[in-house]
Amino acid sequence: MNPEYFLTRHTVREFSAKEVTPELIDGIVEAAVHAPTTGNMQLYSIIVTRDPAILARLHPAHFNQPAAVNAPLIVTFCADFNRFEHWCRLSRASAGFGNFQSFMSAVIDTVAVTQQFATIAELSGLGTCYLGTATYNAPMIAEALNLPQRVVPVASLAVGFPLDDASKGPTHRLPVEAVMHRERYSDYSDEAIARSYGPIERMPENRHFVEENGKETLAQVFTDVRYPRAANEQFSKLYYDFIAKAGFPFPG
Ligand SMILES: Cc1cc2nc3c(=O)[nH]c(=O)nc-3n(C[C@H](O)[C@H](O)[C@H](O)COP(=O)(O)O)c2cc1C
Repeated sequence: MNPEYFLTRHTVREFSAKEVTPELIDGIVEAAVHAPTTGNMQLYSIIVTRDPAILARLHPAHFNQPAAVNAPLIVTFCADFNRFEHWCRLSRASAGFGNFQSFMSAVIDTVAVTQQFATIAELSGLGTCYLGTATYNAPMIAEALNLPQRVVPVASLAVGFPLDDASKGPTHRLPVEAVMHRERYSDYSDEAIARSYGPIERMPENRHFVEENGKETLAQVFTDVRYPRAANEQFSKLYYDFIAKAGFPFPG
């Protein structure tokens, strides 16, 4: 294994004007679809958007985040039972996929292919940025991309060649002991939590982050500013209703 790429990669949010050719993207998709997939059903679709008129409809769905607006391409990865069920219909096979378990299988397939795409893209010299807004504003994305029933946006990537930024290193992570359990789950003591999150809390940029938001702790920046309950609940309902309308009425 060559760990160098994995230990140094980071999200890119600023892109150069260098053209990302269709051939480069086609090659990345060709390799990405070899990601593992439930029963080899490939329960996803990958929508590559570079047309400025369609990008202009996607940008507000991604809250006009600079990474989305600056990128020459937005790639939207959707959980997709539409294609597989169509094949079933043509084959006199009675499909039973409008339920939570099937939806989760499609989501897992979609996430696996998304990350494989991102890794190959980055190894090919491109920069990528996940856009979490893919699930926040799924109805707007579905409209912009003409998504039929049983097709649900799960992840989007802003993709382009990175603007040179030699000073940017890898983003901080929790220590391995914080995320890895040996043999069985061992729950965290208060001291273990403090050991895990202390170094992040003490980083100058995070101290600044706490101060500029008028908060006492870094965790409060996450709970009160970045991911507040009201927004989580609002977007949760929006996504849940969209998924049900798309043909996955839970529970089922
Ligand atoms: C599901 C998901 C959603 C994300 N959404 C956004 C986003 O909307 N905007 C953004 O700038 N970065 C987004 N990111 C990127 C994360 O902020 C980034 O991966 C994290 O801070 C770690 O940094 P690194 O990728 O440089 O290691 C997202 C990442 C994931 C996996």
